Amino acid sequence: MELKEITKIMKLKMKYILFYLLAIIFSIFVFSCSELEPNIEQLPLINTHNVGILDTSSNAFHGNLVKQSNWDMNGCKQCHGINYDGGLVGYSCLNCHTYPGGPENCTTCHGSSTSNAPPQDLNGNTSTSVRGVGAHQIHLKGGDIGRNLTCAECHNIPGGVYTPGHVDSELPAEVFMNNPRANLVTNDPSTSEYDPNLGMFVPDPVYNPADLSCSNTYCHGYFKNGNLDNSPVWTDPATSECGSCHGDGSNPLPKIPSQGGSHPTDTDCYLCHEGVVDANQNIINPSKHIDGLLNLFGNNIKY
Ligand code: HEC
Ligand code: HEC
Ligand code: HEC
Ligand code: HEC
Ligand code: HEC
Ligand code: HEC
Repeated sequence: MELKEITKIMKLKMKYILFYLLAIIFSIFVFSCSELEPNIEQLPLINTHNVGILDTSSNAFHGNLVKQSNWDMNGCKQCHGINYDGGLVGYSCLNCHTYPGGPENCTTCHGSSTSNAPPQDLNGNTSTSVRGVGAHQIHLKGGDIGRNLTCAECHNIPGGVYTPGHVDSELPAEVFMNNPRANLVTNDPSTSEYDPNLGMFVPDPVYNPADLSCSNTYCHGYFKNGNLDNSPVWTDPATSECGSCHGDGSNPLPKIPSQGGSHPTDTDCYLCHEGVVDANQNIINPSKHIDGLLNLFGNNIKY
C-alpha cells in the first residue's frame, strides 16, 4: 500500500474513534448531571483526603500532610501532576501556590513574600522570641547598626527543596558560619595597625543549638581589642547592645593598654572614625560597621 493510503485510512479510523469517545463522554455528562440535581448528597464522591485538607487550623491540613511525610511531595505529584498543575485528579496546587515552582518555591514552608527567611518559621511562628524566627530579619536587612548579611553567611543554601542537607534532617536547622566575615582574622602582620605584642585573632565561629548562642565570631567580638568571650543569644536582642562586641556596656571603647589591649584611650570616637559614628555615638553609616573593615580617618582598611 502507498503511504498516502495508509494515512488516509488512519485518519478515517481516528475520526470514528474520536466520534465514539465524544459520544461516550457526552452521555456520561448528561447522565451524571441528571443525577446531580436531585440528590447531591448521595453522589458516590471519592474523598481521597480527610475533611480539613484546606483548613489551616485542622490536623488534616495539607501542609501538615507534607510535614508528616518529611516534606516529601513526590506522593502528591502522583495524583496532582508532575508540575503540581492538576495531573490525574485535576486539582491544581498552582491555583493557590502562584509563585515560581509552585509548592516548591522557597517561601512556601518558611519566610514570606519578601524574604525566604523566617518569619514565618516552619511552625508558622512570627515572634522574634521563638528560635525559628529569632534575629533573622535584623541580620538580613541590616539593622540600625550594622551591614546586612545573606543566608549563606550562616547556612548552606539549598539549590532546591530536595538538595541534600536541606529537608532531610530533623529540626533544628543547621547553622554553619563558613563565610569569610564570621571567620575574619585580625591583627594580621601584613596590616598597617599590626601590633606584635598581641597575637593574631583567629575566630572559630560556633552556633550552640542548646542555648541558641553564637560564639567566637568576628562579627560579635572575636577581633583585636574586642570582647572575645561575647556570646549573643539568637532570641535576645539585649545581648547585642552597644558595647557588647567591643567595650564595656554603654561605653564601646575597645580594649586600651591598661586592659591588655592597644586601642587609643580617647573616647570621642567620631574624631578618628567619622565615617561610622557621629559626636553622640550614633552609627551614621551601618554599611561601614561590622563589615570586616576598619573605618579610620575616612579610609576602610584591613586591621
Ligand atoms: C491518590 C491521589 C492523591 C494523592 C496521592 C494526593 N491527593 Fe490531594 N487530592 C486528590 C483528590 C482526588 C482531590 C479532590 C478531592 C478531595 O479533596 O479529596 C485532592 C484534593 C487536594 C487538595 C484540595 C484542592 C482544592 O483545590 O480543593 C489539596 C490542597 C491537596 N489535595 C493536597 C495534597 C497534598 C499536599 C498531597 C501530598 C501530601 C496530596 N494532595 C496527595 C488526590 C490525591
Ligand atoms: C517543602 C517545604 C520547604 C520548601 C519549599 C523549602 N524549604 Fe527550606 N527548609 C525546610 C525545612 C523543613 C527546613 C529545616 C531543615 C532542618 O531541620 O535542617 C528548612 C531549612 C532551610 C534553611 C536553613 C538551613 C537548613 O537546611 O537547615 C535554609 C537556608 C533554607 N531552608 C532555604 C530554602 C531555600 C533557598 C528554598 C528554595 C529553594 C527552600 N528552603 C524551600 C522546608 C522547606
Ligand atoms: C486552595 C488553596 C491551596 C491549594 C489548592 C494548595 N495549597 Fe498548599 N497551602 C495553602 C495555604 C493557605 C497554606 C498555608 C500558608 C501559610 O500558612 O501561610 C499552604 C501551605 C502549603 C505548604 C507549607 C506547609 C507548611 O507547614 O509549611 C505546602 C508544602 C503546600 N501548601 C503544598 C501544597 C501542594 C503540594 C498542593 C497541591 C497538591 C497544595 N499545597 C495546594 C493553600 C493551598
Ligand atoms: C546570622 C545568621 C543567620 C542568617 C544570616 C540566616 N539564618 Fe536562618 N537560622 C539561623 C539560626 C541561628 C537559626 C535557628 C536554629 C535553631 O533553631 O537552633 C536559623 C533557622 C532557620 C530556619 C529554620 C526555622 C525553624 O522553623 O526552625 C530556616 C528555614 C532558616 N533559618 C532559613 C534562612 C534563610 C532562608 C536565610 C536567608 C534568607 C537565613 N536563614 C539567614 C541563623 C541565620
Ligand atoms: C584618636 C583616634 C581614635 C579614637 C578617638 C577612637 N579610635 Fe578606635 N581606633 C583607632 C585606631 C588607630 C585603631 C586601630 C588600632 C589598633 O588596631 O590597634 C582603632 C580601632 C578601632 C576598632 C577596631 C578594633 C581595634 O582596636 O583595632 C574599633 C572597634 C574601634 N576603634 C572603636 C572605637 C570606638 C567605639 C571609639 C569611641 C568610644 C573609638 N574607637 C575611638 C583610633 C581611634
Ligand atoms: C554586633 C557587634 C557590634 C556591636 C553591637 C557594635 N559594634 Fe562597633 N564594631 C564591631 C566590629 C566587628 C567592628 C570592627 C570594624 C568593622 O568590621 O566594621 C566595629 C567597629 C566600630 C567602630 C570603628 C569604625 C568601624 O566601623 O570600622 C566604631 C566607632 C564602633 N564600632 C562604634 C560602635 C558603637 C557606637 C556601637 C553601639 C551603637 C557599636 N559599635 C556596637 C562590632 C560591633
